[in-house]
Amino acid sequence: MGQIKLTNVKKSFGAVDVLHGIDLDIRGGELVVFVGPSGCGKSTLLRAIAGLEKITSGEIAIDGKPVNDVTAADRGLAMVFQSYALYPHMSVRQNLAFGLENSKMPKAEIKERITEAARMLEIEPYLERRPGQLSGGQRQRVAIGRAIVRRPVAFLLDEPLSNLDAELRVSTRAELAALHARLASTMIYVTHDQVEAMTLADRIVVLRAGRIEQVGSPLDLYNTPANRFVAGFIGAPHMNFLQATIASVTPESIVVTLPGDHRLEIPSKGSGLVQGAKVTLGVRPQHIGLGSGTTGANQSIPARIRLVEALGSETVIHADLAGEKMLVVVAGQHRLTPGADIDLSLSAAPIHLFDEKGLRIEHAV
Ligand SMILES: Nc1ncnc2c1ncn2[C@@H]1O[C@H](COP(=O)(O)OP(=O)(O)OP(=O)(O)O)[C@@H](O)[C@H]1O
Ligand SMILES: [Mg+2]
Repeated sequence: MGQIKLTNVKKSFGAVDVLHGIDLDIRGGELVVFVGPSGCGKSTLLRAIAGLEKITSGEIAIDGKPVNDVTAADRGLAMVFQSYALYPHMSVRQNLAFGLENSKMPKAEIKERITEAARMLEIEPYLERRPGQLSGGQRQRVAIGRAIVRRPVAFLLDEPLSNLDAELRVSTRAELAALHARLASTMIYVTHDQVEAMTLADRIVVLRAGRIEQVGSPLDLYNTPANRFVAGFIGAPHMNFLQATIASVTPESIVVTLPGDHRLEIPSKGSGLVQGAKVTLGVRPQHIGLGSGTTGANQSIPARIRLVEALGSETVIHADLAGEKMLVVVAGQHRLTPGADIDLSLSAAPIHLFDEKGLRIEHAV
């Protein structure tokens, strides 16, 4: 139950093409997160699945049945919006009951479903209040409750936490994860916040300008991003990118020339790279160390400190490498002075290489 399959789904608004052929197979019970920058088509895709937006071509199937011509109300899905969309003049209980009453469900069953959802979401004390008498987090739980009482085959959530403050977002996110575990129903969750995507998802779908860039588990995307866009989007702060040229290739390693003519040797096998090729080197801020890592190989590059952010548990260093910005995040507290020179050690860092089209180059050792 709750399997959703998209085949070559396209959507245009007049002359504007918004979705360019989306193929996606969502398993029953899976929590899939659509993530991507503003305007990439996340909401449009979700609304198309919900049946609120008619697709231009392609097919959407739920549990094996095409639903292109099935109305939103008959798709068995429940949508939760960022704006909550609660009825302000109704009590919480009436908000929860409204959709069920419209479908002529027996009163006793409605009562039972509301009691269960209210207990699950811990909103029992507020059932007789109106939405205006609730906090943002409580309202959001009511909006989720209204979806739960319908017992949908899948939940579709569009940025449901973005109106909450930072602390409440983190706790509500954890509640949602627990709720998903308990309900075991399919959830599609839209966000532009990659931390939310990483923490919630079984699989993340990264969208960009109406196309899927990559689909995978959070750690797949983090460890082996398909391209530079995904590499830069997943992980915070985002990956450092440096223009580099392949200086030499041996069966065991590649030597790249970085800005400032610094050379870096990377263990590598079978990359297919040749001397002189232009690549982009990617390295995450957390994977760079401090101090000279010059253990024979040239694994350390000199840089200048521009700014230091001491966060207590970690230190964020904004460095300058021959005019290129490098962000470094190291654990613990360090006495560092802006303007001073440091050595950035890449000896332990996973190094990503991207070709001129931005695609990741396999260079496994
Ligand atoms: N009804 C519409 N008519 C014309 N263009 C639309 C319509 N709805 C959305 N669009 C366009 O489709 C593109 C995708 O919009 P969508 O709302 O799906 O983006 P999104 O990824 O959800 O962005 P955000 O993160 O800002 O919510 C945008 O360029 C938007 O302007
Ligand atoms: Mg949106």
